[in-house]
Amino acid sequence: MKKIAVYPGSFDPITNGHIDIAERASRVFDKLIVAVAKNPRKKPLFSIEERLQMIREALSHNKKITVESFDGLLVDFLKEKGVDVVIRGLRAVSDFDYEFQMDSLNRKLNPNIETFFMMTSESYFYISSQIVKEIASFGGSVKGLVPENVMKMLENKFKSTMEKK
Ligand code: PNS
Repeated sequence: MKKIAVYPGSFDPITNGHIDIAERASRVFDKLIVAVAKNPRKKPLFSIEERLQMIREALSHNKKITVESFDGLLVDFLKEKGVDVVIRGLRAVSDFDYEFQMDSLNRKLNPNIETFFMMTSESYFYISSQIVKEIASFGGSVKGLVPENVMKMLENKFKSTMEKK
């Protein structure tokens, strides 16, 4: 039987930290589904289509990885896919409370679900989508923090918002 895992997130946008986790998880599992939450409540900077496109481009070389979007509860997406393993990346201790809450909630909703946590590689410890957006919004360079295609998308996004001002 194939071992499949789901790596969920907002990925607004995907960073090199996320790429590192996805690549490493794909070595452990036969297939990895990167599941992009539509999350309209979080008011993402990038539309779901943009986020899917950026991730697909950045991970297209890895044939074990597929990228899909989901709306609603993660447990429902997992059920639809017949998957019960979730992957999440952990950076600092500050991630712990939120991850603990999510894991507990998901297991309350479906006790068969197991979340596997992977430590982010040292070089990506300080990267978050939030910080990347902040740097880019002030015109700073995000080289090395996100894939090249994401860098271009960020530049375009903030160029067009600045032009509107
Ligand atoms: O990258 P993020 O924003 O930390 O990812 C969080 C995400 C999308 C995995 C989480 O918010 C989620 O699973 N959302 C779907 C709704 C859901 O299932 N909520 C209950 C568990 S918190």
